Formats: sequence, structure tokens, C-alpha cells
Amino acid sequence: MSGERIVVESAAKRYGEVEVFDELDLTVRDGEAVCILGPSGCGKTTLLRSMHGLIPLDGGRILIDGSAVSRPRRNVAMVFQHFGLMPWKRVRENVAYGVELAGLPRATVDERVDRYIAMVGLGGFERHYPYQLSGGMQQRVGLARALALEPDVLLMDEPFGSLDAQTREILQDELLGIYQRGLAASGSKPPPAMVFITHSIEESIALGDRVVVLSARPARIREILTVAIPRPRTIASVIAHPSFVELRDRCWRLLRAPVAA
Ligand SMILES: Nc1ncnc2c1ncn2[C@@H]1O[C@H](COP(=O)(O)OP(=O)(O)O)[C@@H](O)[C@H]1O
Ligand SMILES: [Mg+2]
Repeated sequence: MSGERIVVESAAKRYGEVEVFDELDLTVRDGEAVCILGPSGCGKTTLLRSMHGLIPLDGGRILIDGSAVSRPRRNVAMVFQHFGLMPWKRVRENVAYGVELAGLPRATVDERVDRYIAMVGLGGFERHYPYQLSGGMQQRVGLARALALEPDVLLMDEPFGSLDAQTREILQDELLGIYQRGLAASGSKPPPAMVFITHSIEESIALGDRVVVLSARPARIREILTVAIPRPRTIASVIAHPSFVELRDRCWRLLRAPVAA
């Protein structure tokens, strides 16, 4: 069916005796932001890295744009929990890295790097090294590097998980703005899809059109909640929305409910 950007079909993964997930099914549509919420160690990173083609599955398959993923693709970008920056490269070189690998013309690389560094608010820091930046700024670099690829699929693995609460909220708001502008600007292209992993209930509701709640390992989908909070959103507008408290309580209960026998 058209509009299905990512299809996870009966995905199974194990590490030796450790069953990470089995028979996992999930579809992410064009223009959709899906947040995956689950307890630590349940297999979220493994699932996301499988979507990226970094980890082979033991069963089932993952399709992006209708074909099975077996290696990272140019139109899919990842933002890592621990930023994943190259410490010996400056901000500008870190942001440029992916687009350079994609083999785009120099002028396009330069234009994109400038534009996305400005978009994440790092203008003036191009020549800084990662160690000279705060955690929040380092993750802005990670975000700019992914966005500069102008991906059709943005995979985010708890990107704000190690930041302090205030920095985290600022970056959530900025990501909401960037994603919503991306949706608006997609033009003739199908709008981008985002898969955002988190263990924060509030973050999953704020950013997601749907929230997939996973159980503890082996990860199973406990429930998929639809977040009917209109975009454009801000963190403040989400928290003030009448459905927020109910969604939060539902997620809270699902995460803490004992695993069914
Ligand atoms: N490369 C690996 N080798 C062996 N076990 C792994 C490996 N990667 C992850 N695991 C195990 O798989 C489970 C899921 O890990 P992970 O996907 O990182 O969880 P999450 O991101 O939800 O915290 C954990 O029990 C973890 O210890
Ligand atoms: Mg993880």
C-alpha cells in the first residue's frame, strides 16, 4: 500500500540466549512521527538499528519504501543517544560528513551545512570541537548532521536522553518546529517519517502522532496510542491539551502493568 514508509514484519532478534524481540509488527507512514516507548533494555535500540540496516534480523523483515533493508541507505538518517560525533573533527566537518559521503557536489554540501548549522542554532560555532560544546550543543550537531542529508526517514535513538530537563525541553520544541516545517515544505515529495525512541512518556506524547508502548524484553507491543493533538505543537501546547493527562496515565499504566502470562 502506498504511504507505508517503514514496514516491520514479524521481526525477530536474539543475542544467544537473550531473546530481544520476536514477531514484532509495525508500520510507519509517510509524514508520520512514531514514538517508541519502552523500559530500558527492552530492545529499542536494537529495533532502531535494525531499521537502519546496521543489525541483521534473525527472522522477519523490515521494508523501507517497499524493499528489504540490509544496509544503511542515503535517504535514512540516524541521531544517536550519545551524539556519535567525531571528536577530532570540528562542528562544520562533523555536520558535513554524511553529505560528503553521499557524494553531493561541493556547493550543495556547503550550502546545506551552513543552512542546517544555522537551523539548529550553532551559527558561530563551526570551528569548535565537540569537547568545547555542552551536551545540548553536541546533540544539535548530531541533529544538523542528520538533517543535512534531507532524509525521508529520520531515526532518533533517545537523542535527548542524557540532557538536563531544561535543555531537553528546548530541543524538543526545536525538533517539533523543524519536523513540522519539514512536513509543510515537502512539496511534491512524500513528507518525511520519523521514528523516535524514548523512555520518557511526556516526550513520546509531545513528539508522536502515535506512541508504541513496548513491554520489557522480549519486547512486545503492548498498545499503540494515537495522539490526536494538532500540529503545529509546542511542549506547552501539548501539556495544556485536554487529552494529555489521559494519554500520560495510559502510558504510565501500560509501562508498569505486569507482563501478561
Ligand atoms: N551486541 C549485543 N550483544 C549481546 N547482547 C546485546 C547486544 N546489544 C544489545 N544486547 C542486549 O539486548 C537487549 C536489548 O538492548 P537494547 O536494544 O540496547 O535495549 P534498549 O535500547 O531498549 O535499552 C539488552 O538485554 C542488551 O543487553
Ligand atoms: Mg537504547
